[in-house]
Amino acid sequence: MNNKTIFRIFRFNPVHDKKPYFQEFEVTLTRKDQTVLECLFYIQQRLDDSLAFRSSCRAGICGSCAMHINGKYRLACNTQVSGLTSDSITIRPLAHMPIHKDLFVDMKPFWEKYEHIKPYLIPGKPSPETGEQIQTPDERSRIDVLIDCILCACCHSSCPITASQEKYLGPMAFLHVDRFFSDTRDGAAEERLAVVNNEYGVWRCHTVFNCQEVCPKDLDPSGSIAHLKTEIIKSNRV
Ligand code: FES
Repeated sequence: MNNKTIFRIFRFNPVHDKKPYFQEFEVTLTRKDQTVLECLFYIQQRLDDSLAFRSSCRAGICGSCAMHINGKYRLACNTQVSGLTSDSITIRPLAHMPIHKDLFVDMKPFWEKYEHIKPYLIPGKPSPETGEQIQTPDERSRIDVLIDCILCACCHSSCPITASQEKYLGPMAFLHVDRFFSDTRDGAAEERLAVVNNEYGVWRCHTVFNCQEVCPKDLDPSGSIAHLKTEIIKSNRV
């Protein structure tokens, strides 16, 4: 196999570039299952060592390598070049966050939203019999579909409301609020609904479903938003 592929990569160094530009690199694929991340390492190690991007686990677990690849936010380590339909590959950084350099963004705005929703258990009352927070298998199954988020920010970047409203909490935050709200060991249901029941909360979602479409873990932030809206109405908070 000797398959040459053109990579068009977003470049921008705020220290000396007046504006961003795209730079092309030719990469010869040596395996059918070569990933976009492996090609970025090839470019960095063989063609241009100034190329900046973020990665860590290379196994779809840490969420570090999320970027915009051929029109969709995805994990570079989880995306095989052979699975992309175009002859060339265009890569941009995550959106709605300042650019440090090239594909490497400052995720502070994203982490601030995560911190804001208190992403940890606030213990409820322990069982009177055991003194422990016991969960039944059924109770546990309610959060099984919510706990796999790897905080890659694909949903954050794909959301058109996040694009226009800086303070909008966004799909990642709503998914995590739902994760703790739905956990029977958590004792802060009222507080959690209050965090999302305001002008930057769930009511601002336009139900575009981009978040659901791009999530590399097949999670459903749109479903979490619908669930939280229902719970707010049930609690007579609207
Ligand atoms: S490098 Fe960890 S998810 Fe891609």
